[in-house]
Amino acid sequence: MHDKTDVLDQRSADDFLNIELARDAILLFANSVLHYDFDDRYEQHFYRRKLRPHVLKYLDFSTPASVDQLLSYAVLSANRVLGAMYETDFLLLPSGPAMEFDEKEFDEFYAPGRRAAAACAMPYLEKYLFSFLGQEIAVGGSWTLPRVEEYFGHILSQDAASESLATRAIAASKDPKNAGQDWLLQLAPDFLLESSPMARYASGSFGDLGTSLFKVIIDELGYGEFDTKHSTLFENTLRSADLNHVPHHYWQYYLNSSLLLSNYFNMITRDKRHFFRYVGAIYYAETAFITGCRQWADTLKNSIPGLDVRYFNEHCHIDVDHSRMVMSNLVRPAIERYGDRAANDIVRGFEESRWLGEWAEKDFQTQIAWKDKAAHYHEAHDRIFDAVAAKAAAGEVKAETFVEPAGELSITHCHDEDELCHINSGVMEFINGFGKSTRLEAGKGIVIEHNRLHGALIESDECNYTIYTIRDVKQWV
Ligand SMILES: [Fe+2]
Ligand SMILES: [Fe+2]
Ligand SMILES: [Fe+2]
Repeated sequence: MHDKTDVLDQRSADDFLNIELARDAILLFANSVLHYDFDDRYEQHFYRRKLRPHVLKYLDFSTPASVDQLLSYAVLSANRVLGAMYETDFLLLPSGPAMEFDEKEFDEFYAPGRRAAAACAMPYLEKYLFSFLGQEIAVGGSWTLPRVEEYFGHILSQDAASESLATRAIAASKDPKNAGQDWLLQLAPDFLLESSPMARYASGSFGDLGTSLFKVIIDELGYGEFDTKHSTLFENTLRSADLNHVPHHYWQYYLNSSLLLSNYFNMITRDKRHFFRYVGAIYYAETAFITGCRQWADTLKNSIPGLDVRYFNEHCHIDVDHSRMVMSNLVRPAIERYGDRAANDIVRGFEESRWLGEWAEKDFQTQIAWKDKAAHYHEAHDRIFDAVAAKAAAGEVKAETFVEPAGELSITHCHDEDELCHINSGVMEFINGFGKSTRLEAGKGIVIEHNRLHGALIESDECNYTIYTIRDVKQWV
C-alpha cells in the first residue's frame, strides 16, 4: 500500500522556509544593477532602490529583532530589502516626462528569478522584522463585538486629543521647512502607492466583506478620475513643497520606522492569513487619519509656504466615511461571522497599526533633533578628538581608515553605536539627513549618533578619513 501522504522527494531542500535558502534568496535578489551602490544622492533611475548589497551577506536575520533592535542597521537593511521585494507585486511605470522608460531595468525589476527569490525570502524577513509585535502587544481576553466597539471608541477619542509627535518636531525644528519636507518624504513610501496594498484584497471570494472593502478602494483610486486619485493629490503636495513626486526618488532618506510601517501594511495584505488583522489596522488608520491629517496640514502649511494641502483636506473629510464604512461593513460582520479569530486579530491589527504609527513619529522626531544638532556634533568632534585618537593608538578604540575618490557616495545608513568621523585629508560633505549637510575639512569631523540616518559624499579629488567607534559619546564629554 502506498502512503498517499508520502509525497516529497526533495533533492536540495525539504522546507522553503529554510534559513539557508532564504539567505541565498536575499543575496540573489539584491545582486542586481537595481540595488548596487551608485553615487546618486537621490534615485535618478525609476526602478533602482539602493540596498548596499555587499553588506547584506554579513548581516544575520535568523533571530527575530527585538523591540530595542528596531533602529539597528540590520533592521534598516531588512526593511529596505523587504520593501523592494513587495513592490515587485505592483505595476510601476514612469508616467511623466521626467523619467525615461528603461526597458532593460523594467524586465530586471520583474525578472521571474528575482520574484521567485523574493517569494522565498519574504516570510523569513517578515519573521525577522515583525515577530517583536507578538511580545510588545498583548491582546488578552475574549473579545466580543460590544467590547471591541467600546475599546476602539475609547482609544480613538483619547488619541484624537493628543498632539502628533511629527507636527511637534516640525514646529520645534530650527529649519521647519526642511523638517516639513522630511515628514512628507516619510509619508511617501505609503502615500505615493496609496491603496496598492489594500488592492491586494480586491480579488478573491469572501462575500460582501470584499464588496465593502472595494468601495473604499474605489474612493482611494479617485473613482476613475486620475486627478482625484489620492496618490495624485499627494504628488501635487510634493510638487508644491519643491519635492520630486516620482516614487522612491528619496529612497535613501526613508527612516527605518517609515519603512517598517509601510512594510507592515504590505505584510498583512500579502499574507491572506492576516486579513482580519488588516481589517483592524485599516480601521485604526482610516479613523486616526481624520485628526492626524488636520494636525499635519496645519503645521505643514506654516512650515512650507504655498503647500498644496488638498491631500490632507480630502482625508479629513472622506475618512469620516471610510471609518464608518470599515466599522459597519467590515469589523462588525467579520466578528459576527468568524467569531474569536476575527475579533482577536482585528484588535491585534488595530493595536499594531497604532503602535507602528506612533513609533514612526517618534523616530522622525529623533531624526529631526539629530539634524538640528549638526553644529553641536561638529564642535563635539574638536572637544573629544585628541582623547579618542590617543585611545585608538593604544588599541582601546576601534578605528578604520578609508580613502575615497571625488564623488564617491556612502549610501545612507546608520550605526548601532556612536561613531566619530575624522577627516585626515581632503573634504567630505557629511549628509546629516535629507537636505542637511555639514562640510568637513581636514582636521575636522563630526560625532555620529547611533541609529541616525546619515551618508557622505567626497568633495575633494581624494579624501582620507577615519571612523572611530566611540560607542557612547556621553563617555567622552
Ligand atoms: Fe486615501
Ligand atoms: Fe481612506
Ligand atoms: Fe556612517
